[in-house]
Amino acid sequence: MVQSLRGMNDIFSPENQKFEYFIYHASRIAKNFGFEYFESPILEQTDLFKRSVGESSDIIGKEMYQFIDKGNNDVCLRPEGTAGVVRAFIQKKLDKAGGVQKLFYHGPMFRYERPQKGRLREFHQFGCESFGQSSVYEDASIILMIKTILDFFKIDYTLKLNTLGCPSCMPPYKQNLVNFVEAKNDLICQDCKRRISLNPIRVLDCKNPNCQNEYKNAPKLLDNLCQSCDDDFKQLQDILIQNNVKFEIDNNLVRGLDYYTKTAFEFVSNNLGAQNAIAGGGRYDRLVEFLDGKATPAIGFAIGIERFIELFELPKSTKENYYFGALDEESIPTIFQLANKKRADKQVFIEYKNRSLKAHLKNADKQNAKFCIIIGEDERKNGTIWFKDLETKEEKIIPFSDL
Ligand code: HAM
Repeated sequence: MVQSLRGMNDIFSPENQKFEYFIYHASRIAKNFGFEYFESPILEQTDLFKRSVGESSDIIGKEMYQFIDKGNNDVCLRPEGTAGVVRAFIQKKLDKAGGVQKLFYHGPMFRYERPQKGRLREFHQFGCESFGQSSVYEDASIILMIKTILDFFKIDYTLKLNTLGCPSCMPPYKQNLVNFVEAKNDLICQDCKRRISLNPIRVLDCKNPNCQNEYKNAPKLLDNLCQSCDDDFKQLQDILIQNNVKFEIDNNLVRGLDYYTKTAFEFVSNNLGAQNAIAGGGRYDRLVEFLDGKATPAIGFAIGIERFIELFELPKSTKENYYFGALDEESIPTIFQLANKKRADKQVFIEYKNRSLKAHLKNADKQNAKFCIIIGEDERKNGTIWFKDLETKEEKIIPFSDL
């Protein structure tokens, strides 16, 4: 038998219902915050991600679903959503138009990681990207929006916050860090040795405890920020405090993607196990320019949907769905006609085989219906239906016209 690929899941009930419910409410909240729905292709040129996510990242270095297509193009399945949105933003010349542009999206992302609980090779993200606002209030607004979504679903979280500086404070800090780490070259892991030449700050979130021990006294970016980054980071914290958003400063939060500047954050949960990040994001003021667009400040985030839906239960249903069944073969065209009319505004299941009343009721239960509508010879002749509310157990006979 052909099986699905490792780390790629089918989404059946009840996850499919949670998935839909999540997308509905997250989209609703995103719209309230001024975002509009956006969709970009799942397949893009590999170069897009090399230039944005960064060649030093694990995503590009190890995890790409990359191949040469029939036209000899080097393409890959998107490992994340931001790069595609930025490409589209520039391609449509929205950078030149100036102004504010806010887009939300959801869909599958692909990373060839080692699958484990909460870590898939095909997973789904719900993301938002906001272009054209350099105000730190937009950083706060993005964080508040994620909080609004988490609060709606009654999910507990910890918000970890950091700043990754800007082109004026980051390069001298990096050099400091490189000098510090190079002096420890014999004591650190192979990955850190690779990172130190490609993207030094990634050593700070190395998971190897020996490395972490060596970096205890490493220089901290927070102590080396330029005035503007320092002011923005302090103001962001003030705004969050004024708006009752709790957070922890995490100096080692560097994110796994290279495009961030200034604000970087992650929402983590204590109820997920090792893969505990529910959402991550930050500011990427250089990326539009880096991908050949006109310099545009931007900030965004993405929620991992599979992880998110582990953390809430669906509310008790307020279902209004119908089950239609016939007791004899002659009644099947009648129920088919009536049921299809009902489908204009209600969810309806039609049983195409005639069965006994008992069998229909059992079946209606299996379909998780609220109302069961049955027609037999008598009802057909009288122009009536037998109706049962399966929750309240109320039964009655009503004319077709009252359905
Ligand atoms: P990210 O932190 O790589 O950021 O991914 C965002 C979220 O996607 C994670 O917090 C996690 O919940 C989920 N996720 C990531 N990898 C996996 C996986 N292998 N299996 C299951 N879930 C996963 C980004 O992708 C950025 N594009 C976010 C962003 C938008 N930054 C600015 N704008």
